[in-house]
Amino acid sequence: MSGLRGKRILVTGAGSGIGRAAARLFWDSGAELILAGRRLAELQETLWVAKHVVLDHTDDAAVAAFAAECPELDGMFLAAGQLAMGSVASTSLPEFEGMLAANLRGPWLLCHHLGDRLREGGSVVLVGSNIGLRAIPDSAAYSVAKAGVHMLAKVLALEWAPRRIRCNAIAPGPVHTPMVDVRLSGSEDPDGDLARLSAVNPLGRMGTEVEVALLAAHLLGNESTWTTGTVIPIDGGATAVF
Ligand SMILES: NC(=O)c1ccc[n+]([C@@H]2O[C@H](COP(=O)([O-])OP(=O)(O)OC[C@H]3O[C@@H](n4cnc5c(N)ncnc54)[C@H](OP(=O)(O)O)[C@@H]3O)[C@@H](O)[C@H]2O)c1
Repeated sequence: MSGLRGKRILVTGAGSGIGRAAARLFWDSGAELILAGRRLAELQETLWVAKHVVLDHTDDAAVAAFAAECPELDGMFLAAGQLAMGSVASTSLPEFEGMLAANLRGPWLLCHHLGDRLREGGSVVLVGSNIGLRAIPDSAAYSVAKAGVHMLAKVLALEWAPRRIRCNAIAPGPVHTPMVDVRLSGSEDPDGDLARLSAVNPLGRMGTEVEVALLAAHLLGNESTWTTGTVIPIDGGATAVF
């Protein structure tokens, strides 16, 4: 993955799960990293040698202050997000707004404030979800927010094209991270739910953090310079079938 050598990349959600795996992969590929999340210890555990930024990406003033001091970037991998379960009927307005903030407002603010910090020829990868492409029961607010993330990638691909900055979204299916553990912890049948999450795609298993990180690395690197404005499912084929 030589395409990341020497690139300065911001990774959000870098303290766990997909963001952590991506940070470690990008580092091994020669990138210079700024890792962001709300918990410093977790960011340090991901990679001691990186630069760490404690940041709530929903906080407009905090993101603006970070952007004012942030050096120029070659790329951003915006993996921070949260999952809450519930239907439209059962989700309260504060819960809905919380999902929009954690999953859509955060990446929006980062792109709003940091767009000018991106070098010409840069690349940004947003993390959506395959349930932002196709509906399943009981994750209404999350799914709606992730669908917004997909559209944000397309809008930015258009807006940033004159500077040759690309923007794509990836839409993972289930990957066994702390986010999925939180979901399972609220289940009456966690083992059954885990088995069902694995069975819903033709390849018959959950993805791994590294598989998702490898796609992100491809989109951030020099091997994908004509790819922009896409939403790429990475889900074992789940979105391809009924
Ligand atoms: N795992 C899956 O099955 C799956 C499937 C499709 C899409 N995704 C998406 O993939 C991304 C990574 O998820 P994951 O599975 O790796 O989950 P995870 O391990 O829970 O990671 C989410 C990260 O987001 C950070 N975060 C949450 N709210 C934040 C905020 N307000 N400001 C800054 N950072 C915040 C968390 O760090 P702090 O708590 O330290 O801030 C955490 O490190 C998410 O966008 C998720 O929606 C995951």
